[in-house]
Amino acid sequence: MTKTDGGETKGDGKRPFGALARSIRIGDLEVPNRIVFPALATGFGSADGYLTERCISYYLERARGGAGLIIVEPAAVAGAGRSASNTLLIDDDKFIQMHAKLCEVLHAERVKLFLQLVHAGRKTSSRVTGTPPVAPSAEPDPDFGETPVELTTAQVRGVVLAFVSAAVRARSAGYDGVEVLGTGGFLLHQFLSLDSNHRTDDYGGDVVARARILTEVIAGIRAAAPQLALSARIGPGRKDQYYLGLDELQEVAKLSAGAGASCVNVALGAEMLARTDRVPVASPGQVKQPIEPVVKGAVSVPVIGGGSISDMNQAEELVQAERVDLVAIGRPVITDERLPAKLFEGRSSEIRPCIHCNVCLGRPPNPVMTCPANPRVGREQLFWLSRRGGGRHVVVIGTGLAGLWSAVLAAELGYTVEVFEPGSILGNLVAVRSRIPGQTENYRIVDYLSRELRTLGVPVHLRRKVTVRDVLETRPDAVFVTRIGPIEPPQVDGLSNVHTIDPITVLSTEPTMGDKVVLLGGGLMGAEVAYYLTKKGKQVCLLEERSRVASDTHPELRQRILAALREMDCPVYVGVHHLQVNVYGELAVEYEKRTLKLPVDTIILAGNYETCDNSFRELEGKVKEVCFIGDAYETAELTRLVYEATGRLVDLANRL
Ligand SMILES: Cc1cc2nc3c(=O)[nH]c(=O)nc-3n(C[C@H](O)[C@H](O)[C@H](O)COP(=O)(O)O)c2cc1C
Ligand code: SF4
Repeated sequence: MTKTDGGETKGDGKRPFGALARSIRIGDLEVPNRIVFPALATGFGSADGYLTERCISYYLERARGGAGLIIVEPAAVAGAGRSASNTLLIDDDKFIQMHAKLCEVLHAERVKLFLQLVHAGRKTSSRVTGTPPVAPSAEPDPDFGETPVELTTAQVRGVVLAFVSAAVRARSAGYDGVEVLGTGGFLLHQFLSLDSNHRTDDYGGDVVARARILTEVIAGIRAAAPQLALSARIGPGRKDQYYLGLDELQEVAKLSAGAGASCVNVALGAEMLARTDRVPVASPGQVKQPIEPVVKGAVSVPVIGGGSISDMNQAEELVQAERVDLVAIGRPVITDERLPAKLFEGRSSEIRPCIHCNVCLGRPPNPVMTCPANPRVGREQLFWLSRRGGGRHVVVIGTGLAGLWSAVLAAELGYTVEVFEPGSILGNLVAVRSRIPGQTENYRIVDYLSRELRTLGVPVHLRRKVTVRDVLETRPDAVFVTRIGPIEPPQVDGLSNVHTIDPITVLSTEPTMGDKVVLLGGGLMGAEVAYYLTKKGKQVCLLEERSRVASDTHPELRQRILAALREMDCPVYVGVHHLQVNVYGELAVEYEKRTLKLPVDTIILAGNYETCDNSFRELEGKVKEVCFIGDAYETAELTRLVYEATGRLVDLANRL
C-alpha cells in the first residue's frame, strides 16, 4: 500500500490501485485496465458533423493519460438525430476519414476505442436538425418542448438500420467497439420508458416490446460487424422523466446481453448531473438507488459502472469488491488527463481535482466544453505549440482563479513569475465562494494551484498592496491584473447611520455583526451570501433594485437558490427603490407602491463591482504587455476569464 496526501491509497498489496490496473476482456477485446473514459460530448465537432483536429488533440491527451478504454463522444446515426449544432455525424461514409485518423493516432497509445452512437429523437429541436424531431409517440420532451412526429413502424426499422450502418462505418474507421446510447433521454431511452412510449405496435407495450428497438439495433450490429465489441449504455432515467424501474432496467440489461451486447454500461449519466454548480439542494428528480448490483447480478458480460466518483479509492473498491468490472471516470479525466497514469504510478496526490461545477456541460444552443480546472481543455494543440517564455518576467496582481492559472502556466512556460495578493487569502472570489454551503469543493482547485506555485518556486506576496511604481520596479515584461475593482455602493440615504460591510469581508473573515441583516444587491453573490447568513441563524432580507435576483447565473442555479431562500423564509424583494436609513437604524424602501420598514443592524453592500481593478491602468504604455483580466464570482464567467488569461499568456509566449 502507498500513502498519499488524500489518505490511504487502495492497492492489491503490490502496487497502488492494483484492481483498477488489471486488464479485462470485453468480448474478444483485451482492455489494458479497468478505467473507462466515458462518452462526454465536447462540442468540438464541426457544424457539418465532422470530427475535427481539435477533437483528436483532446482525445490524444486523454489516451496518453492511461485510461484502458475511451468511449468517444456520440456521433448521430442520422441528421435528424443530432442533439446540438455541433454533434458529430456518422450517417455517411464521408465522415469515416477523420475517425480513422483519430483511431490511428490514439491506438499508438495502446488505448482501446469505442464510438458512442446516438439518435436524439425528440431531445432536440428543428432549429438544430432542420427537420421536426421524431419520437416513439407524438409528445414533447419536457425540456425541448417541440411536439415530435411519431415514427411509423417502418421508420423505426429505418432507425435500426441507421444504427447498424453507423456501426459498420465505425468498424471501418478502426474502432474496437461501439456503444449504443440507450439512456440520457435520447431516442432509444424514449422507447424504453413508459413516460415517453405509448405505442401500440411491436415497439410499445411491455418492457420486452419497448426494448425491441434496442435489441434489434444490438442484434443488427452483431450480425453486420461480428468483430466489434458492443456496449449498451442504459440507465434508470429520472423520477420526473424517462423513468425506468430497477426491475425494468435489469430486464433491459438481460435483453441487451442476450441480443449480443458484449458489455453493459450503467454509469450515472449526464441527465443526473445538475446543469450547473453544486448547490445547497439536490438536483431535482435524482434516482438515488445503487444500480450496479441490480445489473451485475443479472448479466454475465462485464458491467461498466461509476459516475460522480471523486475519491479514486472508491473506484478501486468498486472493482475490488466486484460490484462493477470497469469504472467510468469522466469529469476527473477532463480536469486531469493523466489521472489514470498518476494512480498507477503512485502519484495520486498530484491529481488536478474536478470541482463538480459542471461548466463542462456547456450552454445550449451551442454547448462547447470548457473547464475552470483545466484551461488546456479544447485548446490542447495551442499549448503543445506554444514557445517557452525564455526567462522574461511576469507579474500577476491578484490571485483569483485566472491569476493563479496565469502564474502557474507562466512559470511552466519558463517565465520568472511574481505574484502580489493584497488580500489575506489566495483564490479571491473563488475562495470566498467556497465558504458557501455546497460550494466548498471550489477550494480544491485553489489548493491545487497554490501547491503548484510552491512546487514551481513562484514567490507569492500575500497581504501586499502594490502600487504602479512597485510593479514597475520589478521590471516586468508582462503584467496580469486579475482582481476586481471596488464594489459600487448603492444609493442609500443615511447609510452612515448603520453598520455596513461588503460581502467579500463577510465570507473571508466571518466578522461579528448584528442579527438583523439586510443584503443590498441580489446578484448571485448577494443571493448566496443571504443563504449563507440565514443558515447561520441571522435574520436576513435580500433587496434588489432590478426585477430579478441572481440573474447573472444559469437559470437552473437561480431557481434552486431562490427555492432554498424560500424554504428558509428569507424575504426577497425585487424592484425596490428610494432606500433610506433613519437615525434609529431603520431602513425604509419603496416596494410595489408601498413603503417597507425593515429593522436592521448590518447592511451588506453586495452591489455591482468593477470586474477588473482599473487602478493599474497607468501601467499601459510603460510595460510591454498589460492584460486586464479581472475576477468573477459566477463559475462560467470565471472560466471565461481563466481561458482569456491563459490564452493571452500562450499568445505572449509566442510573440515576446
Ligand atoms: C460535459 C458532459 C457531457 C456528457 N455527454 C455525454 C454523452 O454525450 N453521452 C453519454 O452517454 N454521457 C454523457 N455524459 C455523462 C458522462 O458519460 C458520465 O456518465 C457523467 O459525467 C458522470 O461521470 P463523472 O462523474 O465521472 O463525470 C456527459 C457528461 C458531461 C459532464
Ligand atoms: S471542474 Fe467543472 S468543468 Fe471541469 S470537469 Fe469538473 S465539473 Fe466539468
